[in-house]
This record gives sequence, C-alpha cells and structure tokens, in this order.
Amino acid sequence: MPVFPTALPAPRTPDPMEAPALRWGVLGTGWIAECFVRSVRRHTRQRFTAVASRDAYRAKDFADRHGIPHAYGSYRELAAARDVDVVYIATEHTAHLGCARIALDAGKHTLVEKPLAPNAPQAAEIARLAAERSLFCAEALWTFFLPRFDVVRQILDSGVLGNIRTVLAEYGEYFSGDHRILRPAQAGGPLLDLGTYPLSLAVRVLGTPTQVLACAEPHPAGVAGQVSALLRAADGGQGVVHTTLLSDTPTTATIAGSRATLSLPGPFYQPGEVVLTPTGGGTPLTRTEPHTAHEALHYEAAEVARCVSAGLVQSPLRPLADSVATLGAMDEIRRQCGITFPSDP
Ligand SMILES: NC(=O)c1ccc[n+]([C@@H]2O[C@H](COP(=O)([O-])OP(=O)(O)OC[C@H]3O[C@@H](n4cnc5c(N)ncnc54)[C@H](OP(=O)(O)O)[C@@H]3O)[C@@H](O)[C@H]2O)c1
Repeated sequence: MPVFPTALPAPRTPDPMEAPALRWGVLGTGWIAECFVRSVRRHTRQRFTAVASRDAYRAKDFADRHGIPHAYGSYRELAAARDVDVVYIATEHTAHLGCARIALDAGKHTLVEKPLAPNAPQAAEIARLAAERSLFCAEALWTFFLPRFDVVRQILDSGVLGNIRTVLAEYGEYFSGDHRILRPAQAGGPLLDLGTYPLSLAVRVLGTPTQVLACAEPHPAGVAGQVSALLRAADGGQGVVHTTLLSDTPTTATIAGSRATLSLPGPFYQPGEVVLTPTGGGTPLTRTEPHTAHEALHYEAAEVARCVSAGLVQSPLRPLADSVATLGAMDEIRRQCGITFPSDP
C-alpha cells in the first residue's frame, strides 16, 4: 500500500506550443467556437485555415475577426477543403452527429464538442464512423486534457487514495433569458451542458454504473431545471451527481478513498487547485495554479495535434468508449426522470 506522499505530482502535460501544427477548420460560429479559437491561437502553433457557418455572412465575420483565410456558408464545403486536417465541431448538441458524419465522410479528423452527442446511440455511431475510416475522433471534454487532471490521474493511478468508495461531483449555474440551454428543441436542460462534467468524472473513476437512481425538477421553459443522480458501481462504490440551471453552486468534486480524499475546489472542471488529505486528519497537500478558465481550452487542441501526428485514432485521455459510457448513464438518468429530447431514437 503506497504511503501518503510528501508532495503532489507535477503535471506531465507537454508544452502545447510544442505540439505539431495542424490545419484546423471550425464548424459553427457560436460562443465556444470563439473561446476555442482565441485560446488555441494564443497558446499553440495550430493554424485555423477555415470556418463554416450555416450563414455565409456569419462565417465571413468570424473569419475576419480571427484572421482565418477561408469562410464557407456550408459545413460540407469546409469538410471538402484540401487545406483542413482536423475539423473542430462547435455546433449545438443535436447537430454533433450530422457534423461528425460530414467531416469523417470527407476524410477529416474530428474534435467534437462535449457532449459527444445527445444520447449514447448517436455517440456510438460517431465512434463507429471514425473507427471505420481510421480517423481520429475525440470528445472535447477539455477538463480531461488539462494539467490539473493529469495530477488527478497520477494520484488515482498511484493508489494513494486506497479503496475508492465515493465520488461527489456537481455543477450548477443559473441561466435565464434566451439561452440555448432553455430550449427543448436543442436538447436543453442542465444535463448535457453542465451535468456532463460531474457525470464524466464519476463514470471515469467508478466505472460504468450498475445501478442509477435519479430524480429531476422541471424548469418553466419546458426543460429540466435540476437533476440529481446516485450511481452504484460494481464494487459497491457510490457516486452522487447533481446539476442545475436554477442556481449557482460551488461546482466542486471529491473523490474519497479509505486512505485519503482528493478534493477539487470549484469550478472543478477548469484549471484550479488539487487538494489531497490523509484519512483521519493530517496536513493536506495542495497544488495551486492560476484560474484561467476557458483560456485553457488549447490543451485539448494540442493533444489532438499530438495524437493525429503520432497516427493515433483516439486520445488515451478521453477514449470514445468513455464518452459513450457517460452518455449511457445520462440516458438512464433521463429515462428515470422522463426527460426526452427531440433527437432521441
Ligand atoms: N467546452 C466548453 O467549455 C463548452 C462551453 C459551452 C458550450 N460547449 C459545447 O459547445 C457546443 C456549442 O455550444 P455554444 O454555447 O457555443 O452554443 P451556441 O453559441 O448556440 O453556438 C452553437 C452553434 O451551432 C451551430 N448550429 C448548427 N445547427 C444549429 C441549429 N439547428 N440550431 C442552432 N445552432 C446550430 C450554429 O452555428 P452557425 O449558425 O454558425 O452555423 C451556432 O452558432 C455545445 O455542444 C456545448 O455543449 C462547450
């Protein structure tokens, strides 16, 4: 049994600036596309050669603001472009499968925004399409590509937590007005946008749950307002996951074992602290880093560039099977709560 360490491990994440430069095309010109392009341009050598929107004017406007040479008024045109190696799919959830199919059919590697799809069957279909064509594909669950999570991974792998019995993870953010998350037709509600982070963490640590117990409270807009779920793992470990768009919550995560507890102060899915505390008390070990929030999106792009250049078709940091397993648990939560999306089979 490993002894409690004297220091936390340093992240092994390679310098994003060193990642081989690929040529990227962006599908969609919304909020996350803006953040991603800004971060990747500042912190890596990746090149954006094209952007596409359903509206040619929006594509041109985005291209002009970010110095991108080609703007297309259709996703298919971008996918066919010869000067694009990898397509970043930044469209809303229900468009992910269609966009991934367009990109993969055109022979392009893909990075698909989280969640990979609105449900597990669609996510599995994306994985199948990529595998069939031997092309790279990953879910842009940026959390798992951050240096903070490389520290978490090393702590988990070291066994220092002992027997992991509990994962507590939650994400709550108040939304009002005309946001996509409040629209039923766009698979709104907190699960896909926010809940995907705590659920992905719980499934990654505990494995695919053998039992799920969930309940939800509706939002007046016709989507779910908040959702809580208990997950039971094959070995009896338990996960408690909560997500809400009715209020702001601390958005923390805790992984508790028989010998030590790992805490991720909020927001746990962004850059931030890692705290390791021995069971029964004792001095905690803390790693701090600047809270750079979405400025850290570039780590996922650098990982894609390294994987594609090395001939890998998936990233070991977020294998597609994990994305599909997370959505399988999400589908069961939704079944129990009676939450349906237009994109459901
Ligand atoms: N990693 C993160 O931190 C993070 C944060 C926020 C969101 N996301 C994820 O990124 C994706 C996009 O989120 P967002 O907040 O950027 O949304 P958004 O601002 O609404 O942008 C979504 C884009 O999807 C495209 N789109 C394609 N088909 C559409 C349709 N039928 N209706 C509406 N839009 C459609 C539109 O681009 P065009 O009009 O240009 O074609 C639109 O601008 C979501 O899957 C979300 O979960 C990730």
